[in-house]
Amino acid sequence: MPTKVLMVCLGNICRSPLAEGILQSKLPKKDYIIDSAGTANYHIGAAPDKRSVLIAKKFGIDISQQKCRQITKSDIEYFDYIYVMDTSNYKNVIAIAPDEKSKQKVKVILKELHTTDGFEVPDPYYGEMEDFEHVFHLLDEACTIIASKIHSKHKH
Ligand code: 4NP
Repeated sequence: MPTKVLMVCLGNICRSPLAEGILQSKLPKKDYIIDSAGTANYHIGAAPDKRSVLIAKKFGIDISQQKCRQITKSDIEYFDYIYVMDTSNYKNVIAIAPDEKSKQKVKVILKELHTTDGFEVPDPYYGEMEDFEHVFHLLDEACTIIASKIHSKHKH
């Protein structure tokens, strides 16, 4: 059985597509299902933001083929781990989680870092390329920890 991880942000075009691509790059493909979704329905069917595509490419990751979708209640049942980018995403996902067991799967991704710098992956949508690069590095650090935790737990 593959281990299933879902990355969640608001639009599913800037942050969670990066988180999806970065985590995929750190784990063997055959053993994991890694996906992303947004809490909003603004961009359904769209490719990731060009700036996310570019910053991923700069670090050797291709996210250009991803397609935006909105999270559903059944996603929360299906996935084993659900990482959200900020506390607003957290509230929105918890609000549609069908039961207590599902709620416990939802984690704020930067809490994996154990720093005191705050837990929000800042939304870069209205920002510049530097903001996207900053987001990339935050997610890269968090995904390194997540990949090693999940991999040792499931011993694929
Ligand atoms: P994301 O960024 O949640 O990281 O995908 C956003 C993308 C689009 C919008 C907001 C945030 N929007 O308002 O359209």
